[in-house]
This record gives sequence, structure tokens and C-alpha cells, in this order.
Amino acid sequence: MKGLIIVGSAKSGSHTNALAHYLKGHFGEHDIEVDIFDLAETPIHQLDVSGASEPSEAYLNNVKSLQSKAREADFFVLGTPNYHGSFSGILKNALDHLTMDDFKMKPVGLVGNSGGIVSAEPLSHLRLIVRTLLGIAVPTQIATHDSDYNKLEDGTYYLDNNEFQLRCKLFVDQIVSFANNSPYEHLK
Ligand SMILES: Cc1cc2nc3c(=O)[nH]c(=O)nc-3n(C[C@H](O)[C@H](O)[C@H](O)COP(=O)(O)O)c2cc1C
Repeated sequence: MKGLIIVGSAKSGSHTNALAHYLKGHFGEHDIEVDIFDLAETPIHQLDVSGASEPSEAYLNNVKSLQSKAREADFFVLGTPNYHGSFSGILKNALDHLTMDDFKMKPVGLVGNSGGIVSAEPLSHLRLIVRTLLGIAVPTQIATHDSDYNKLEDGTYYLDNNEFQLRCKLFVDQIVSFANNSPYEHLK
């Protein structure tokens, strides 16, 4: 089994990236391989259906990589910062490069981080998008605040809140359970 965590922050070394790494550790405890696709570190071009722009080779390769990882994934985690009360445009653009065939009947976990007032609204908005992509957004979700993180000496953020650490475990267990017991295999 394989998972893909897409991180939609505009900032490399984001809180959302730290959360993704924390979750990856928990998936590892289930012996499950998970890739983190951080859109700040691996940027992709804006979707251009008319072909008016000329994306660089690097961007085109990054999109191809995202698409093949998504197709292979058995489950997803979508991670987003709270931008203007919703999920980031960067993440939406990444999802626009993907299709229902990538998400159909696959479990999807939703996580996010806010710098202002903590809000789960970006995750509620994502839930609608996941439904449209025919994915199954699992009930447990994680909405953190900047203050739930601390920094290592090199400036890397890490999740430093016991309650959220426990919630991460529940979140991961839930996704793994959905992925292992999918009654929808024949609908994929
Ligand atoms: C364009 C933009 C819009 C933002 N809008 C909000 C907002 O509506 N509410 C909020 O709490 N924080 C808002 N923030 C702050 C981010 O949530 C904050 O920087 C947070 O640390 C981002 O998490 P990250 O480190 O994972 O990217 C905004 C930041 C940016 C860049």
C-alpha cells in the first residue's frame, strides 16, 4: 500500500510540511510507504488548458511526477494552510491537474494549519472538492495553529502538542483502516 501527502503551502519549511512529516512517521509504523509532495519545494505551473503559456521543463516534469504518484496512491492526505478562510490556491491548482481517476473511491485525509484564528473551514471546503473528485474524505481531520509547533535548532518546525500528536495517530489509523477494508475496490 502507498500513500501520497500533498502539501499546499506557499512557504517551504511550512507548518503544514511539519505536520506531513509527523503523519508520515505514523504511517511508517504501519509499514506503509508515503510520499510527501510539497508544492513549495516542487512547484508546478498553473493549469493552462488553452496552452497559451509555456511552462518550463522543470514544471512540466513536476506535474508528471505529481500525476504518476497520485495515480499509484491508495490513499491521500491533503495538507493546506488557511489562506483567506479557505485552502490555498496552490493546492487547488494541483488538484486541477488531477482527475477523478486518481481519487475514485480512495480514502482522503484532510489537514490544515492557521496562523490567525484556528479554522476548520479550509478543510470543510476541501471536503466538497474531494467528493467531486469521487474520493472518500475520512471523518477525522486535523486543524492546527502555528502555536502547536516548535522549532529545531536548524529552524525546522515540528508538531509540539500532545493532543494533536494523539489525534494524528487516530487520523492515520483511520485512513489505514479505510484503505485496508475498502468495500469499493470493484468501483475503482
Ligand atoms: C495569502 C494568505 C492568506 C492568509 N489568510 C489567513 C486567514 O484567513 N486566516 C488565518 O488564520 N491565517 C491566514 N494566513 C496566515 C497563514 O495561515 C499562516 O501564515 C500559517 O502559518 C500558514 O501555515 P504554513 O506555515 O503551513 O504555510 C494567510 C496567509 C497568507 C499568505
